[in-house]
Amino acid sequence: MATGGFALPNYNESSAQQRKMLLKATQTFGEILNFSPTLTNGTIVIADYGSSEVYNSMVFLSRTLQNFRKISSQPILVFHNDLPDNNWVAANKILLESEESYIKIPDVYFSAIGRSFYDQILPNNSVHIGFSSAAIHWLSQPLSAPDHILPSSSNDPTFKAIASELAHRDLLTFLSHRHKELVNNGRLLLQFADSNNNSSLASTVMQQVSINLLSRGVITEEEKRDLTMPIYRRSNEEIQQVLEEVSGLFRVISIEKIEAKRYEGVSDEHLREVVEQIKKYGPGMMRTPLLRAIKRDSEEFERIFEIFAKKACEVFESIDARNSLSSYHSIVLEKIARE
Ligand SMILES: C[S@@+](CC[C@H](N)C(=O)[O-])C[C@H]1O[C@@H](n2cnc3c(N)ncnc32)[C@H](O)[C@@H]1O
Repeated sequence: MATGGFALPNYNESSAQQRKMLLKATQTFGEILNFSPTLTNGTIVIADYGSSEVYNSMVFLSRTLQNFRKISSQPILVFHNDLPDNNWVAANKILLESEESYIKIPDVYFSAIGRSFYDQILPNNSVHIGFSSAAIHWLSQPLSAPDHILPSSSNDPTFKAIASELAHRDLLTFLSHRHKELVNNGRLLLQFADSNNNSSLASTVMQQVSINLLSRGVITEEEKRDLTMPIYRRSNEEIQQVLEEVSGLFRVISIEKIEAKRYEGVSDEHLREVVEQIKKYGPGMMRTPLLRAIKRDSEEFERIFEIFAKKACEVFESIDARNSLSSYHSIVLEKIARE
């Protein structure tokens, strides 16, 4: 991956699929940018909700802002937001050091906000454009599903109803804060997993590994239940319900489904490299959910983590990565102007 000589850390290195999905919105975001001079003739404020280590957002913004500079020289301030324990060191370094950074574009600045997007994180009426990619399917609280690592894939009706209700409330909370932060007619691009995506690579691997570890007596039934990713893939109906509830706040500019085969067009050689990367970093991403689920002393935890990581690599090897499909909702909303 060309990164201007910068050694990419964990998430940045292993998130090509999320980048592919975000780049599909290049034209849509270009239209949103072109609209923003109607909102201000001063600094255009862009907020990126759930940026992780920023590489994907940076590439996306570099492309779209370069085009925007052909029609406007207005200053631009980008706020990247993620949780407080995000790898902000990696984020700052890549923005400052990468050849692909948008800071090479004149009059473009950035800042970072380490705070949950389920809070209001910027002042009222201060954001012209918001976007969020592959982040708002993360729920505000952990859940423990009886039968599946992904809450939205559970077949337990009682649990499924609890998870769906939490996902509903979370999206409403997210939108009500963004409504306050946006200026009148400010726009929001939201891309997040939809329920067709249940067969995603990571969840397939993790589900198989957790069943295997339970059957071998490595983890207990309770530990397996707590080993649930706090991710909810919303169906069309669930989205429609939320959009109806916020119809007094937001106008729907567009709503579509985007899909991509994760490794379409990738050579066999490159795919082998990607598989090696995922084997290297994938298990590490499960460390936090494992720490929540496996309440043992640190030596015992490390022993289980090693078994988990080894099995995850084995399962990953056996899966047809090339045909794994990503399916996302892609929605553009506009804040309805207050009288
Ligand atoms: C899969 S990454 C997506 C990163 C990037 N937007 C992209 O498209 O590649 C999801 C990010 O959402 C962040 N996230 C999850 N819940 C969050 C919350 N409540 N507030 C802010 N960020 C959150 C996670 O920490 C993670 O970095």
